[in-house]
Amino acid sequence: MFRTHTCNELNKSHDTKEVELAGWVHRRRDHGGLIFIDLRDGYGITQITFHPDNKDAYKIGDECRSEYVIQIKGTVKKRPDGMENKNIVTGEIEILVEHARILNKSEVPPFEIDQDKEVSEEIRLKYRYLDLRRQRMHKNIINRHKIIKFMRDYMDKQGFVEVETPIMIKGTPEGSREYIVPSRLYPGHFFVLPQSPQQLKQLLMIGSFDRYFQVARCFRDEDQRGDRQPEFTQLDVEMSFIHEEDIMNIIEGMLIELTKKILPDKKIDSMPFKRLTWHEAMHNYGSDKPDLRFELPICDVTEIMTNCGFKVFTDTITRGGVIKALKVEGGAKFTRKDLDELEETAKVYGAKGLANMAFTSEGVKSSVSKFFNEDEIYKIKKHTQAKDGDIVFFTADDFNTACTSLGQVRLACGKKLDLIDQSLFSYLWVTHFPMFEWNDEEQHLSAAHHPFTHPLDEDINLLKTEPEKVRAKAYDIILNGCELGGGSIRIHNRMLQSQIFDNLGISKEDAKRRFGHMLTAFEYGAPPHGGLAIGIDRLIMLFQNEPNIREIIAFPKDQKARDLMLNAPSLLPAETLAEMHINIKKP
Ligand code: AMO
Ligand code: AMP
Repeated sequence: MFRTHTCNELNKSHDTKEVELAGWVHRRRDHGGLIFIDLRDGYGITQITFHPDNKDAYKIGDECRSEYVIQIKGTVKKRPDGMENKNIVTGEIEILVEHARILNKSEVPPFEIDQDKEVSEEIRLKYRYLDLRRQRMHKNIINRHKIIKFMRDYMDKQGFVEVETPIMIKGTPEGSREYIVPSRLYPGHFFVLPQSPQQLKQLLMIGSFDRYFQVARCFRDEDQRGDRQPEFTQLDVEMSFIHEEDIMNIIEGMLIELTKKILPDKKIDSMPFKRLTWHEAMHNYGSDKPDLRFELPICDVTEIMTNCGFKVFTDTITRGGVIKALKVEGGAKFTRKDLDELEETAKVYGAKGLANMAFTSEGVKSSVSKFFNEDEIYKIKKHTQAKDGDIVFFTADDFNTACTSLGQVRLACGKKLDLIDQSLFSYLWVTHFPMFEWNDEEQHLSAAHHPFTHPLDEDINLLKTEPEKVRAKAYDIILNGCELGGGSIRIHNRMLQSQIFDNLGISKEDAKRRFGHMLTAFEYGAPPHGGLAIGIDRLIMLFQNEPNIREIIAFPKDQKARDLMLNAPSLLPAETLAEMHINIKKP
């Protein structure tokens, strides 16, 4: 054995004990006489002391530099009263070194591991193994393990069986570009990496595995953002013979227990979780994943504006659009700069402008008030319940753009005015998503979730006539304004599935080519089924209060989808390419 204890174990009860420790030189202080080293391992830090009287050991202590790996033998000494270090678990003691041995030397590391200084992410990712030595990363990765273990145990207790599904499959249509794997044996043929195990878990239901789950790796070649990675992990779940409520209850129970266990100090906003339909969420908060840690609702003033003198508004209404209003308490004090920033925010999300009306004791101050008569201004004030000192913002556009852009203004005001209660964990179910969205590029409807999503029973008769009005048995789980997960009840009826393909403009031949295996399987008695997937990385990011998911993944890709440590993607030798039947076109 290299050690009798870890560097996070010893306390004053071990006083005078002979111990052996091994680890890295975290910090070294030479006080002219004594040498102090903070010895670090994967568990914690212990202070060790080299006395000049012990010449052999002292020589080693003198030679040590940052990140050298050493092994020592020594005696535990209780620190004198008042000299304890409250910042570390082992702060009551130190070790007087008797023997020391350098196990391995280290180059000077590219950044200081003993300090929590800002280091560029490029350097951190290139030397990830050093970055992982830092306390923050250690905590994140260990808590990741605990959270995933909790999920596995919970699902097991509920009677779910974990089934592994293949990584090399045929494409799953979930809206992103797919990563592909060329086949050596079948020239010109490719496997595709799963965007999720969606089809496979449905096939498991047909295989009568009533309750399935998997901690599943998913791959999506999409634009990177703080909460996205090219490969990420889902808690993937599917159940047979269930309704929406059944699956939502299981997931809700898990999230409540998990939050209480991992973050006992957080206040869960509401139990059972709040619920909004997609339309309510968009209408009242301008988002399909609203942050409800603060109120600040949006309202509709289309009717009040129908005959106003502002052409931008009346034209919008004539074209079938809406006017949305957001009252911000105390917002009359916003500066020109604040207002410009908020307008910029709205524009980033598609708004053509952000009109405002500030109510003050001296009357209305507004970029547009000249277009409104007294009655209209009175009605706006009344409808939004604005008082002197408040401001009302307006967006005029089609429903989605008017809501979404004002929803972003709502978020920005929440941050600006510090309205967000940070002690709160606000879970929310958003339900009844639209079945389809209009794909402007391809000029047809596409599936808002995926093509196997079941429409609401009462909307099925609209599929042929007004498909854009059809709502789906789809639900998302939101935490603090972030989409944690989503799922749906699936179609298990062949006729209905064909109708949906028609709506999506997928021809019979195309459907057969792309999903023939699913359609065939559906012919052999598919049970009613549904499921959901939670983005585990996003959940851990929120639990660990980290700003992006790279911080809670041991070896993440960077924001340009590269692995800077492995230097991948990389070129392959010509022989390998030839064997895979690949010719690279010169750019
Ligand atoms: P969906 O596509 O909504 O649903 O994904 C479920 C959850 O996975 C997380 N997620 C991601 N996390 C990190 N990086 C990404 N690139 C990324 N993309 C998605 C999100 C998201 O809510 N098969 C369906 C689920 C089902 O219907 O059962 C699916 O994958 O947290
Ligand atoms: P303009 O006449 O374009 O200078 O706009 C006058 C005011 O109306 C500005 O404050 C704009 O931000 C605002 N505005 C313009 N278009 C819209 C719109 N579609 N919705 C809300 N406000 C708008």
